[in-house]
Amino acid sequence: MSEKLIARINELKKQRNAVILVHNYAPGEVQDVGDFVGDSLGLSRTAAGTDADVIVFCGVHFMAETAAILAPEKTVLLPDANAGCPMANMVTPRQLAEMKAKNPDAVVVTYVNSSAAIKAMSDICCTSANAVEVVRSVPEDKPVLFVPDRNLGSYVSSVLQRELILWNGFCPTHERMLPEHVYAAKQAHPDAPVVMHPECRPATLAYADKVASTTGILRFCKENPAKEFIIGTENGIFHRLCKENPEKTFYHASDVADCPNMKLNSLEKIVWCLEDMASVVTVSPEIAAKALSPITKMLETVIDG
Ligand code: 13P
Ligand code: SF4
Repeated sequence: MSEKLIARINELKKQRNAVILVHNYAPGEVQDVGDFVGDSLGLSRTAAGTDADVIVFCGVHFMAETAAILAPEKTVLLPDANAGCPMANMVTPRQLAEMKAKNPDAVVVTYVNSSAAIKAMSDICCTSANAVEVVRSVPEDKPVLFVPDRNLGSYVSSVLQRELILWNGFCPTHERMLPEHVYAAKQAHPDAPVVMHPECRPATLAYADKVASTTGILRFCKENPAKEFIIGTENGIFHRLCKENPEKTFYHASDVADCPNMKLNSLEKIVWCLEDMASVVTVSPEIAAKALSPITKMLETVIDG
C-alpha cells in the first residue's frame, strides 16, 4: 500500500515541480519521502533557497507560514490544514500589543513557534537552535521580552545568566515530560547521556547532559561515543536516531511525548494535497512584509545547538 502511495507522490512531485520538507517529529514514513528532513531552522533555510514551485510542508502551520513568507512566489501546502501548534496559539496580537505597551523599551524576541501576525510585531525571531545566540545579540542594557515559550526562554536566561521577561506559553507535549520520568529513565540506564529539547520544563531539563534543537540532538547522538542515550523530546525523532545510528540504543525519557499535530501528516494527505493543490497556506502581504525582517535576522544568526 505505501509503495503505491510513494510512487504516486514521486509522480506528483515531478508534475508539480514540488519539494517535500519534513520536520524531525513527523511520522517515519513521511520522513522517508522527504527531500529534506530537519529542525525549524534548517527547514526555513531550505524553504528560502529552493527552486521548486511547490513546497509541501510536513510539519505544522507556523512552519508553512514561515516558508510562505520566505518564498512568496511559491505555493506552500500543509498536508493537513488542522496541523497547528498549541504553543503558537498561546499569544494573540492584542495580548502582545498590551505587553509591548507595558514594556516599551523591550526588544521582542519571538520563538518561530508563533503565528505570522506575532512575528510581524517582533524585533527578531529565533528557533531552538539559535535562541541563545539571538538573545546574546541584544545589547545587555536592553530588556528582552521573550515570546511565547517560557521554557525555552528560561533555558536561554540560565545559559546567559540574564533576566528575560517571559511570556507564559509552553509546548503541551514537552511540558508533560516530568522530572520523575527522566529520573526513572536514568535509574534504569545510568550510563546513558540524557539529551533533551529546551521546550521541556526547567526542572526536567535539570537532568540533561545536553540541551539542543532536534537537529542538535541528532548531531550530538551521532558524534558522541556513548552507545546508549536517553532522549527527552517528541517521539518522532526516534525514526532518524535509530536509522542513522543502528549500532546505538535510544531510550525514551518519558512515555508521554507525542505531538498530535505532527502526527496529522501522512502519505495519503501528501498525495491528496498535491493532487488537488489543496490546503494552501498564505500570509497577507502586509503581515508578510513586517514579519520578513525578524525572520531574516533569525536565519542570519549562527547556530549554537
Ligand atoms: P526544532 O526542530 O526547531 O528543535 O523545534 C521543535 C519543535 O517543537 C517544532 O515544533
Ligand atoms: Fe508545537 Fe510542541 Fe508540537 Fe512542536 S511539539 S509543534 S511546539 S505542540
